[in-house]
Amino acid sequence: MKTPLSDSFGMEHCLFAFSYMPEVVAEVTKAGGMGVLGALRFTADELEDALNFIDGEVDGKPYGVDIVMPASSVSKDKAGEFKADELLGTLKQMIPEDHRAFVDKILSEHGVAPLPEDEESASRELLGWTDTTARPQIEVAFKHPIRLLANALGPPPQDVVDEAHSRSIPVAALVGRTDQAIKQRERGVDIIVAQGTEAGGHTGDVAGMVLTPEVVEAVAPAPVLMAGGIGRGSQVAAALTLGAQGAWTGSVWLDTVEHAQPEGLTEKIHAATSSDTVRSRALTGKPARQLRTAWTEAWEDPSNPDPLGMPLQYMLNAQAQERIRRSNATELIGTPIGQIVGSMNETKTVREVVERLVAEYEQALGRIPR
Ligand SMILES: Cc1cc2nc3c(=O)[nH]c(=O)nc-3n(C[C@H](O)[C@H](O)[C@H](O)COP(=O)(O)O)c2cc1C
Repeated sequence: MKTPLSDSFGMEHCLFAFSYMPEVVAEVTKAGGMGVLGALRFTADELEDALNFIDGEVDGKPYGVDIVMPASSVSKDKAGEFKADELLGTLKQMIPEDHRAFVDKILSEHGVAPLPEDEESASRELLGWTDTTARPQIEVAFKHPIRLLANALGPPPQDVVDEAHSRSIPVAALVGRTDQAIKQRERGVDIIVAQGTEAGGHTGDVAGMVLTPEVVEAVAPAPVLMAGGIGRGSQVAAALTLGAQGAWTGSVWLDTVEHAQPEGLTEKIHAATSSDTVRSRALTGKPARQLRTAWTEAWEDPSNPDPLGMPLQYMLNAQAQERIRRSNATELIGTPIGQIVGSMNETKTVREVVERLVAEYEQALGRIPR
């Protein structure tokens, strides 16, 4: 599994793996792919620790960092005017009481206990969803030997792209439509991740089978990675035959030994079929594919309030999600995950997953009539 792009990074396999677990990122890189650490959930200090851990593990092999800087957001015009605390206070006031009451109602109907009082203030409501809160993450990332900077929501601000380029770090951006891909290239993004609707997390509504060759053609000769629904080697082979220079994966790493999560969630992932996800605004305010749960169903019910925009919906949910994770209300526990969940039935180590993908890729190539 090699392409000019993976060769340019010195990778053994053209396999990119998004994860917010430093252990998963390090293992993918050690196994010959490139782990990309999702920085969203980390404070600057935690990110520093996570990147120090990865640096200590990977022996100079390539890894990346992924940030979530919205191209437009409620904080964008005011970025610079705000410190994170002030921004949090201002945004909090924008959450309607009706929405807070609705969240309390769902939680009490499912018997979910409040957090202990001394922990309430520790709940992470804003994370790296805004320009103001993502910038300290970027500063930390640039102090480490990262080989790729990815952004979930289009191109990062121009000064961030320029700074990455001045350090010879290529910038990647996730897109769900061809016109977005063209725009990212105009803004200086080097690698386009064409993400089909099958994917876990924020997705558009175009299938990867259609999107990938369209994007490859539209941005040629820039390299494209295919994302969404890749959990088998045959799907990596499909990505390359569609013109992509590699596979960008996320969901498949949620079912690995190195990925820590509540046991109830792993059981739900094993039981889920490829029809058990939903593209919903319930988690972040933007359509994101996730496991269908009592939580997503409550937000989909038209008689209930509509989800808020980003980042307000996540702020509304942050504490609720923490309470759900600690409760026995497994009907509410969910995660962003893609349709590949239907093929995720057995927990393996990261290295086993990489080896399986490579072996299946070889078999798949053997099946192509020449
Ligand atoms: C649990 C989870 C969290 C994710 N969070 C982010 C994120 O913070 N930033 C990002 O760029 N992509 C995020 N994604 C999307 C992945 O980067 C990747 O594009 C996607 O998982 C690929 O599709 P797949 O899930 O079918 O493999 C997330 C995906 C999952 C499953």
